Amino acid sequence: MIDPALVRARFPALASGAVFFDNPGGTQIAQPALDRMREYLEHTNANHGGAFRTSRESDAQVEAARAAAADFLGAARPEEIIFGANMTTLTFHLSRSLGRRLGPGDEIVVTQLDHDANVAPWLLMAQERQAVVRWAELRTLDCTLDMDNLARQITPRTKIVALGYASNSVGTINEVARAVEWAHAVGALCYVDAVHYAPHGPIDVGAIGCDLLVCSAYKFFGPHLGLLYGRYDLLQDLPAYKVRPAPDLPPDKFETGTGNFEAIAGLGGTIDYLEWLGSTCGQEYRESFGGMLSGRRVRLRCALSAIRAYEIELGRCLIERLQAIDGLRIYGIQEAARLDRRVPTVSFTLRGHAPRAVADYLGQAEIYAWDGNYYAPLITQRLGLEAGGGMVRVGPVHYNTRAEIERLGEALESLSRE
Ligand SMILES: Cc1ncc(COP(=O)(O)O)c(C=O)c1O
Repeated sequence: MIDPALVRARFPALASGAVFFDNPGGTQIAQPALDRMREYLEHTNANHGGAFRTSRESDAQVEAARAAAADFLGAARPEEIIFGANMTTLTFHLSRSLGRRLGPGDEIVVTQLDHDANVAPWLLMAQERQAVVRWAELRTLDCTLDMDNLARQITPRTKIVALGYASNSVGTINEVARAVEWAHAVGALCYVDAVHYAPHGPIDVGAIGCDLLVCSAYKFFGPHLGLLYGRYDLLQDLPAYKVRPAPDLPPDKFETGTGNFEAIAGLGGTIDYLEWLGSTCGQEYRESFGGMLSGRRVRLRCALSAIRAYEIELGRCLIERLQAIDGLRIYGIQEAARLDRRVPTVSFTLRGHAPRAVADYLGQAEIYAWDGNYYAPLITQRLGLEAGGGMVRVGPVHYNTRAEIERLGEALESLSRE
């Protein structure tokens, strides 16, 4: 369903010939997103709420992007989408509001599998409110979240369960809907970090049932911008840290200061790109997503489902190629039958070579990969890899190809022989 040549033509950066496997740190940007940012700055650059053309057009673009983002995440209404600088800033911001509901002895559950942006804000909030933090454990054998352990951490005192949709370090997809169910059973809220999952598959906040979910447009082919979904009644009830003249209703009460309007316009272009991708899928495939969904929701669901199917195959190819390299060890799910439990983000070590040296070697071959702990330090600590520089991470997305995986394999093979 994904035609790599067609897709790649829409990403100007790919023409450089480099292999972009650094995507978990940020993807390349789609042409329609770039076009929208430029158009915004050339023709509608103005602040919010004015009585003149540019301000009105700027506001209209922001609201159009908000409606598109609501479709992208499956939100019930556009006002459930809040724009911010990035996921980390939005999470610190919301944690302050949520913290107002916490008291001594209340509990927050975090996980060892998460990026620190979905851990540190809760640790600091717990400290401020004398709340207790409980940790759900990582199973080091296959780098999955221990769901039995998570279930035990959730108690009648739990107020917030914070967990990731997919791991930016080892690619594991978590069973978020189950976690949400357990959180709700004790009256707790569930805060989902979907930053890493967003470029890899469809997200439907209605189906997951989560209360809050965050992601970042620069991880799914757009500009540097954070997005937060929150259930409307919850956003309405939560106190906001805001200036007094700003509106008291969501989303405005959480969008502090002047927004990054060109990035928000760019997000609109990113979603246009994904919609276009969905429209290239066959009619029959599109109809299988029909039902109650609006046209854009169908096309977005189609695009992300086609991406998911393409990436499962890409992941299989990547893992098989890496397994063939002498001295290379992969961390995380590897069995062919369980590839639906992960995205194709793969971390590994290579015997006799420090992770930074491997990334450096690949970088010189114009193959871009990250090394270290990627701000998910509990994973490398639990795996006993932190002191040795962590791991090397390659993270293909739907614009990557089997030929690029082969190029990576050949480079690593020659390094392994040195
Ligand atoms: C899983 C995950 N969560 C959170 C973040 C932080 O996102 P942001 O850069 O938007 O603050 C990242 C960034 O790498 C991430 O991969």
